[in-house]
Amino acid sequence: MKNEVVIVTGGSNGMGKYMAKKFAQEGARVAITGRNEDKLKEAKKEILKDATGDVHTVVMDVRHLEDVERMVQDVTEHFGQIDHLVNNAAGNFITPAEKLSPNGWNTVIDIVLNGTYYCSQAVGNYWIEKGIKGTILNMVATYAWDAGPGVIHSASAKAGVLAMTRTLAVEWGRRYGIRANAIAPGPIDRTGGADKLWESEEAAKRTIKSVPLERLGEPEEIGELAFFMLSDKAKYMNGEVITLDGGQSLNQYPF
Ligand code: HXC
Repeated sequence: MKNEVVIVTGGSNGMGKYMAKKFAQEGARVAITGRNEDKLKEAKKEILKDATGDVHTVVMDVRHLEDVERMVQDVTEHFGQIDHLVNNAAGNFITPAEKLSPNGWNTVIDIVLNGTYYCSQAVGNYWIEKGIKGTILNMVATYAWDAGPGVIHSASAKAGVLAMTRTLAVEWGRRYGIRANAIAPGPIDRTGGADKLWESEEAAKRTIKSVPLERLGEPEEIGELAFFMLSDKAKYMNGEVITLDGGQSLNQYPF
């Protein structure tokens, strides 16, 4: 990954930050995006504690197409190229389906589904124009194909992102050699999901118990997998989704 350029959306905290850190440690040049400039600056500092190289920050909202187009221009101007896109930016909150407001539904769909599409299309068009065989990595969840009780908006959006991943893997893989894959993380410590979905001590304990390995995942473990999936070591992997959840999603029967 030396000198390759990776964009990580939602790169100022959680999994995005740890993926960016791993890529930077492997010699990549990394652009992290997010809505909050201060958080991006903090993340940049933290990444550069453990890595050398150039980390570029872009303040933007994946929900706004004009922001996304500006991001592609900004990153290509700064680094001269883009090799990989990690669609990590997400929004989520726990709510009963029957109580979810139209704006709550639209907000999560807009961030997760539309944002992923806007970024993939904008970066994809750049790759197609330049003849670059880039790589897309999308973050989904096992509830993209299972049930997501309490997160109907996120589950529906992630199911769409999974379909998008597979569609682009075939459509752009065949025509342009662009790969698209996804990771379905389980409960991972020190992430936005951890803050929101199992914020109380009791919920955290319940979550840990639901995992056969009886622990939360570490965001660094997501970074390792993401690095492998973007790298040439995985150059025959296309349209795949890899679950990293300690076996949680398979844990249906008490034993
Ligand atoms: C019910 C809620 C709500 C809540 C927001 N809304 N939070 N409804 N319960 N807890 C509703 C609001 O009332 C509003 O609808 C609408 O959603 C939009 O809310 P805003 O706060 O105006 O939106 P915004 O400022 O754009 O913030 C978006 C957000 C926010 C998604 C609500 O939480 C955010 O920015 N999150 C980003 C980080 C994040 O969520 N990370 C977690 C990712 S975890 P009304 O009708 O009132 O106007 C993940 C999967 C993990 O994705 C998988 C683990 C297995």
